[in-house]
Amino acid sequence: MSKAKKQRKKTSLSPSRVIKPDSAAVKPASTLDIIQNRRSIRKFKTDIPTDADIENILEAARWAPSGLNNQPWRFLVIQDKAIKGGLAQFTKYKTIIKEAPVLIAVCMDITESYNRDKDLMAIGACIQNMLLDAYALGLGTCWLGEILNRKEEVSGFLKLSKDLLSLR
Ligand SMILES: Cc1cc2nc3c(=O)[nH]c(=O)nc-3n(C[C@H](O)[C@H](O)[C@H](O)COP(=O)(O)O)c2cc1C
Repeated sequence: MSKAKKQRKKTSLSPSRVIKPDSAAVKPASTLDIIQNRRSIRKFKTDIPTDADIENILEAARWAPSGLNNQPWRFLVIQDKAIKGGLAQFTKYKTIIKEAPVLIAVCMDITESYNRDKDLMAIGACIQNMLLDAYALGLGTCWLGEILNRKEEVSGFLKLSKDLLSLR
């Protein structure tokens, strides 16, 4: 890869999806409101988020800061029941894994890595962006770290390449 800073791809997604007041008299949520009011959600409605919502969340993820702008994150969007069922065996949070309509596995591309500590910081920022964006879209989320106790098995189950370990 050249040393030039990678340019972030522009997309056609409209930023206007972030909380809109019903009328001009309603004050829009501030960033601090969104940060303070987001909560981890562990029970889900059966409604399925739209593809546009999922794209929006991934866009928020991609705009996270990263050391040297190396953007080491990669994402797997999982909606297939059988895959969710298979993943559930690797965590005590089986119900969340099975019942959340969408899972987003965040992986680190170790071929992009230049400093493991900083790459992990960037991945954390990326995940937080996703949680906040989802909340602003009216969607509940829960960050599941516990499944990483069995990250090698998870990576094998998801058939991740060895360059793309599930937060190795
Ligand atoms: C790195 C990390 C790992 C987490 N892992 C889990 C998890 O495995 N299971 C779970 O239910 N919540 C998990 N959480 C969510 C925390 O429990 C939650 O953020 C915390 O209790 C504060 O609650 P709040 O998110 O509602 O503010 C994790 C959060 C972080 C940042």
